Amino acid sequence: MTDSLQYVQNARVPIPCTREVEYHRPLSAEDLKTMPCKSHHFVTQGVLKKELSPLLVNDMSEQLIRLDITAPEAAYDTLTGLLTLKVSSGWEEQSLDNGDTLFRVHCENAGLIQDVEQAVQAMVPEAECVRDNVVVQDWLTAWKEFFTPVECGTRFVVLPPWLVDKTDLGSRKAIVIEPKSAFGTGHHATTALCLGVLSDLLDEGRIGQGMRFLDLGTGSGVLGIGLVLSGLAGEGWDIDPIAIDNALENRDINKIAEKDFAIGTGSIDAVAGRDFDVVVANILARPLMEMARDIVTVKAAGGVLVLSGLLTIQTDSVAAAYQACGLGEPERVVGGEWSALVWK
Ligand SMILES: C[S@@+](CC[C@H](N)C(=O)[O-])C[C@H]1O[C@@H](n2cnc3c(N)ncnc32)[C@H](O)[C@@H]1O
Repeated sequence: MTDSLQYVQNARVPIPCTREVEYHRPLSAEDLKTMPCKSHHFVTQGVLKKELSPLLVNDMSEQLIRLDITAPEAAYDTLTGLLTLKVSSGWEEQSLDNGDTLFRVHCENAGLIQDVEQAVQAMVPEAECVRDNVVVQDWLTAWKEFFTPVECGTRFVVLPPWLVDKTDLGSRKAIVIEPKSAFGTGHHATTALCLGVLSDLLDEGRIGQGMRFLDLGTGSGVLGIGLVLSGLAGEGWDIDPIAIDNALENRDINKIAEKDFAIGTGSIDAVAGRDFDVVVANILARPLMEMARDIVTVKAAGGVLVLSGLLTIQTDSVAAAYQACGLGEPERVVGGEWSALVWK
């Protein structure tokens, strides 16, 4: 769990009860027809502006019901499992300062909310449930308010398009990200950690102008965009075509040419046989371990490798997998429960 708001969404399939960041595909039109809680996605995922506005914006008086469930750490797995079964459209999670977790469910289906509340009370009697009504228009505002500018390292600030003219950037470079379903608005610790590491490497002169990078698991394109704005050029790959659409859109928003940031659907196989001065991969521990040999191979001799998306407790195993492929001891950069590994 992170201290930032975390979206757990998507739901035709059970969501694994893991504390790693999960990336989920966005809703399809088919999902929208069948899911009981369409409004939740409207609120939490920017992409749904496009997909859901015909359903919701026409009726601004529509009421959503919000159920807040606050529970102690010990009940986390039970509640995640229960919500996975009952709330197919997803929920939000937030770690509270006292160690409790706030689970937030939105839905216009009062019966479903009641069912969830009863199930929670039966399984986790110590959980506190609070129901409230929210009008959709409030939610539109709330959703926008969530995407505040995020400063990362000394060099970057990640912000949504509507805040570009309202934000004093100082000497920072603005990475403008349209918040959609692709991961990478800067609000998750792993993105911020990675950008902070890249900012430090730029400050140290270890990476810079003219170098070529690989941004594996590019998501919204946020890291690649930051590198291009800092004078590098390279490629971003992601196995999720929806993320790629968002990365392409963000490349345009940031006025970056294709020759400076090539973006495509795919993974490490797509760059086999080539190498890069900077390889950055903010994915998850397991795929990073599985791809260790191939990732090490595409790092140029003397190049830099940054791995993120790792829980701090996973870093030893990930580091060992890369050391087994010939790399030395990495630098560890810790940001709460998340860590990045840096070979430089
Ligand atoms: C945690 S997000 C990071 C997004 C962005 N780079 C950032 O730092 O915010 C991880 C991304 O990796 C992608 N991904 C997962 N496994 C992958 C793989 N084996 N190869 C390429 N991309 C992968 C996911 O689709 C997702 O967009």
